[in-house]
Amino acid sequence: MLDVLKKRRAIRQFESREVERSKIDMLLEAATYAPNDRMREPWHFYILQGASLKDYQKVALKYLQNRFPTKPHLVESSMATITNTPLIIVVTSAVVAGDEGATKDNSFAVSSAIMSMWLMAEHVGLGMVWRTRGVGLVHDTELHSFIGATKEEQLVGTLCIGYPAKDITTPKKRTPFTEKTTWL
Ligand SMILES: Cc1cc2nc3c(=O)[nH]c(=O)nc-3n(C[C@H](O)[C@H](O)[C@H](O)COP(=O)(O)O)c2cc1C
Repeated sequence: MLDVLKKRRAIRQFESREVERSKIDMLLEAATYAPNDRMREPWHFYILQGASLKDYQKVALKYLQNRFPTKPHLVESSMATITNTPLIIVVTSAVVAGDEGATKDNSFAVSSAIMSMWLMAEHVGLGMVWRTRGVGLVHDTELHSFIGATKEEQLVGTLCIGYPAKDITTPKKRTPFTEKTTWL
């Protein structure tokens, strides 16, 4: 298990070939087995491929051009990260009106679901990166409205998925757990 966890990496460069429907279904099924408080199963998945993915790229381009009007190179390099991605899955978490604790627990559950998807992706030969910033558009309103999410949903992750353009399996250096642990 530790070996599998160490080999999981954020993959940002993909081959152009499409991801098979059967593999997408496997990722989604893996997600649904994540732990979640009171079985609220607070996740929802929006699949972007083909035409819808192209439309998302237009939304992202407009957002970047508005945000960085004087930095065309930044816009270009940010766009390159999603134009080479054959599949994007946007994952939302349910907001529980008037219950901040339950809403937070829902995002924790959705984060667990995303991790399951990440590990499943690697298991079936795919690569993935969980994006929130920049073109990830998780913290902005544009993607929320583009996918047609309701106000009872909040975005948690924009998952860029595809066949890895190169094999990256060496772990990034981590701080030893001993430095992150307090034994009480
Ligand atoms: C909540 C979250 C948000 C992230 N957002 C981004 C992002 O916006 N852009 C990006 O390139 N990577 C993003 N990442 C991926 C991290 O940069 C990556 O996981 C980290 O550098 C560790 O590398 P590794 O996953 O290869 O071990 C995000 C990861 C998480 C968990």
